[in-house]
Amino acid sequence: MSELLISPSILSADFAELGVEIRRIDDAGADMIHVDVMDGHFVPNLTFGPPVIEKLRRHSDKPFDVHLMISPVDPYIEDFAKAGADILTVHPEAGPHLHRTLQAIRAAGMKPGVALNPGTPAEAVDPVIDDVDLILVMSVNPGFGGQSFIDSQLRKIEQLRQKIDATGRDIILEVDGGLNPETAPKAISAGVTAIVAGSAVFRGGPDHYAQNISALRAGATI
Ligand code: DX5
Ligand code: ZN
Repeated sequence: MSELLISPSILSADFAELGVEIRRIDDAGADMIHVDVMDGHFVPNLTFGPPVIEKLRRHSDKPFDVHLMISPVDPYIEDFAKAGADILTVHPEAGPHLHRTLQAIRAAGMKPGVALNPGTPAEAVDPVIDDVDLILVMSVNPGFGGQSFIDSQLRKIEQLRQKIDATGRDIILEVDGGLNPETAPKAISAGVTAIVAGSAVFRGGPDHYAQNISALRAGATI
């Protein structure tokens, strides 16, 4: 089993100094940088796009784990590649052609990921599991940080763990939403190998980032 990856979501960072915040979480022990892109249409919130990511890229050498909550995706794939995204994760509902989108992401030189909303079943990955390097289980409905972990997603994580193991491929199983030192151990036991956390990493301010990340790792039994 791979080592647990912690991917802090910069949605909870101070947007007025995002570059500095990324350097802080990098220094504090982040394994990846989780970047939430929202369009105010696929989800009821707006963040930023490729030009901002391109400027942020120089602040860390860690992989940029970019979570797209936008529709459509395809017209922007090249822009995210040029901006420096390493992993590009999309929701099947962003449509219209998930398989084509995943192929285009790989062709652009990035690792393709697929994200499942709380109401989307594990089986949604079946037709594309051989085409993805990451599966993201949303444990809240996407759009906002600071929501509560939805326990029913643990069963889905277990199902996805079995599906991934059956492929024999090294697919990252990531969980996003409401992760903290109380909920992370449950997700880890269910089989995730990566944890996204926004409010649980950034709470308390910069002096706490390292201990907040360590507290999330403490629940790891893998
Ligand atoms: C929600 C985003 C998450 C969010 C998580 O739509 O995809 O990445 O930032 O925030 P917390 O960890 O505060 O639930
Ligand atoms: Zn996210």
